[in-house]
Amino acid sequence: MNTENQKKIAAEKATESIQSGMIVGLGTGSTVYYALLKLGTMVRKGLDIIGIPTSEGTEKIALEQKIPLTTLATHPTIDLTIDGADEVDKDLNLIKGGGAALVREKIIANASKKILIVVDESKVSRVLGTTFPLPVEIVRFGWEATQTEVNRICGKSTLRQNSSHEGDLSPLITDNGNYILDCHFDGIPAPAEVESQLNNIPGVVENGIFVNRADKIIIGASTGIRYME
Ligand code: 5RP
Repeated sequence: MNTENQKKIAAEKATESIQSGMIVGLGTGSTVYYALLKLGTMVRKGLDIIGIPTSEGTEKIALEQKIPLTTLATHPTIDLTIDGADEVDKDLNLIKGGGAALVREKIIANASKKILIVVDESKVSRVLGTTFPLPVEIVRFGWEATQTEVNRICGKSTLRQNSSHEGDLSPLITDNGNYILDCHFDGIPAPAEVESQLNNIPGVVENGIFVNRADKIIIGASTGIRYME
């Protein structure tokens, strides 16, 4: 089974946990996309849910799919969130933010009673930070000074560029109006410590390490579906 099909079966499996009456956190990314399509079909067949999107991109897809939406102001507690990840370890720690939505994703995760993470098998890693650079969202003011401090922890980081338009080399701006640094670690053996060290730097808004947040990882693999919980 190819990677695209692995993403699809994992995402669609996660939607089987959604029941009418739920407030559902809607993650971001190419894997969650398949869950949004499936939820759209289920809603049009009568499933009664309200979603809270983690990004403007997801909000747009959810609206196209006619999934009713709400906000944390109206519904501060989310029953179940389906989200993706860039890297997962055996303790269910995650690196997220490849799609630049990590701040809203962590806020939604924090408000969620249960979190299902959907990935293809390439995302499973022995040590976090060995296959994917860690995204760190920073405010634009004084960003060079913030980067210097971030580099003391990770060694090297790069300012993420806008890849949506060919030839556009301007920095990517997140939905929150900030920049992203992609931090190149040689592994993050103590993710909880690094998460809090980075968030302690003035100018850092949030980073993509998610510790003790996921309840279950649904992995689409070449041989079918696997779980880590
Ligand atoms: C967005 C994220 C995504 O969930 C993560 O990047 C995985 O995306 P994809 O399913 O496209 O690989 O954290 O900020």
